[in-house]
Amino acid sequence: MRVGVYPGSFDPVTLGHLDVILRSSKLVDQLVIGVLNNSAKKPLFSAEERVDMIKEATKDLTNVVVEAFDGLLVDFADLKGAHVIIRGLRAITDFEYELQIAQTNHKVNPKVDTLFLTTSVEYSYVSSSVVREIGMYGGDITSFVPQNVVERVHDKFRK
Ligand code: PNS
Repeated sequence: MRVGVYPGSFDPVTLGHLDVILRSSKLVDQLVIGVLNNSAKKPLFSAEERVDMIKEATKDLTNVVVEAFDGLLVDFADLKGAHVIIRGLRAITDFEYELQIAQTNHKVNPKVDTLFLTTSVEYSYVSSSVVREIGMYGGDITSFVPQNVVERVHDKFRK
């Protein structure tokens, strides 16, 4: 069975992430979405909330599972029996950082390779940080995130 891991912070998951999830889920038998639970970062949503939002948004995709992880990504990939890490590239500005991480990960664990999908053009400008910024000022985020995430973001900033 070919297992792929799609890792990220997903704070929160965007339509750009969903596009990568949809497309990469067709390339592997099972896609494990790994939500980084990094105690050094202060995310808007807890790891549990981020996992829940992705689960809701991907409930119709039968070969997709969502889990939080901490520690090294390649160790998580190993644990899940995955030999491929999926990452989305929005623009050339993503490339330098992604190249370095992919090469580092391959050095640390040569069994794991990284596969890049270019984000569909309609989502090339979408990012979680832009969603958080617009959400903070109560702006319209409906074209950036799945429907189930819209209210969660607004709720977060109303509190
Ligand atoms: O959505 P993001 O924040 O761009 O995702 C970054 C992520 C989760 C892929 C990256 O931070 C990661 O893999 N973190 C786990 C620690 C690790 O394995 N680092 C790689 C060696 S530099």
